Amino acid sequence: MQAQKAQGTEDLFGGYMRAWQHMQEVASTLFDAYGFDMIETPAMEQVDTFVHGIGESTDVVRKEMFRAVSGALYEQVMGAGSESGLKPRQRLALRPEGTAGVVRAAVENNLVPQGGAPVKVWYAEAMFRGERPQKGRLRQFHQVGMEWLGAADPAADAESIIVLMEFYRRLGLDASKLRLKINSMGDATCRPAYRDSVRSFILDHADEMCDDCIERAEINPLRAFDCKNDHCREVMAAAPKVTDCLCDDCAAHYAQVKAYLDEAGISYEEDPTLVRGLDYYTRTVFEVEYAGDANIGAIGGGGRYDGLMELEGGKPTPGIGFAVGFERIALALSDAGVDMAGEEPGCVYVANTDPDLRGAAFTATLALRGAGIRTEADYQGRSLKSQFKQADKHHARLCVILGPDEVAAGAATVRDMSTHEQVSVPMGELAEGVTRMLG
Ligand code: HAM
Repeated sequence: MQAQKAQGTEDLFGGYMRAWQHMQEVASTLFDAYGFDMIETPAMEQVDTFVHGIGESTDVVRKEMFRAVSGALYEQVMGAGSESGLKPRQRLALRPEGTAGVVRAAVENNLVPQGGAPVKVWYAEAMFRGERPQKGRLRQFHQVGMEWLGAADPAADAESIIVLMEFYRRLGLDASKLRLKINSMGDATCRPAYRDSVRSFILDHADEMCDDCIERAEINPLRAFDCKNDHCREVMAAAPKVTDCLCDDCAAHYAQVKAYLDEAGISYEEDPTLVRGLDYYTRTVFEVEYAGDANIGAIGGGGRYDGLMELEGGKPTPGIGFAVGFERIALALSDAGVDMAGEEPGCVYVANTDPDLRGAAFTATLALRGAGIRTEADYQGRSLKSQFKQADKHHARLCVILGPDEVAAGAATVRDMSTHEQVSVPMGELAEGVTRMLG
């Protein structure tokens, strides 16, 4: 039987892989200017890292997190009928998102000492969520994200949104093609009373809502705002608005974030139903959609998480960040007619007219590659004609031809594949000559 990939996963190769690399290059240049360093945390964390941070009652943790156990433990768990006998360090999951792991890493490595300079990191990683696969919704997808720990100022919220919008612009999606939605979720002072009012609202409308939402009313009422059931969302549109219930500090923070965004000329829509699917958010949250096709889903989102460091066992430290989804941005760019993959890279092809000259071709190939030139050669003993065909398939811009006369004279013929012009270059200067001709 032919092997098949897991449902909801994709192989990245060719143009798609180049597009992912391009996105990482754009991110690297942009984040560097803002003082962010790259971080990579493990793809696998203890389940508790996600439960504490993302929240036990979120869909991401309850329904979508892929649990990971070694083969031996798997048998033990299956034999026992539950994983309750496992120690916390044995209960593992593939990361469904990057923030909880980064904050766990900051706590564990003491990256934010009390009163120290903020930590600013970015990542480009695969994430795993057991969602129902569909267009733009995968089980393994890729995010570029950033986390900024230690900055409580509303300017950090505004700058995070500004860098996010600049990232899209550099990828080829300017603000006119995007919808930026923002909201404030309040904090530990004002959120409890707001949660209670949403809970009462859901229970008052229980006959119109799905069973999941009625359960949510008891354990985490705000999650009803991101119920995937359209009718529940319609009902929730009339629920109490968080922005009407903010305490003075949260209201002032939100007003200042908006003032900074206005000053920077960033257009946004306020959406009081935007609560995001993760529990760690406090105050500012934001999400971006591609206006050309809302079916793609959010192409990025983030927000402030001032309590997360403590939830992961660290000292109280404010934090803010965002992540964007590569696959969804690729869909948006393709809809907008922007090619993120770029052209296939060209190369130089080394051809030999006679199998006896394979050694000379080997030497020339090494010299060119040593000079950093992408070089291909024949490894199948092909005729010269089919080597030329291969050169075209490899998008060769130049072909280095080695025949008996050239080798005897210690030179190579270099042919420009588009103009068909040929020049003789001494073998000792091949790399320099080819570099010059490539311009
Ligand atoms: P999120 O909104 O869950 O936030 O995910 C961020 C982005 O990842 C989404 O806007 C979307 O583009 C992409 N994404 C999410 N799920 C899928 C999926 N199943 N298939 C394809 N793409 C997907 C977070 O993950 C937070 N950690 C963001 C953050 C960072 N907040 C603060 N710091």
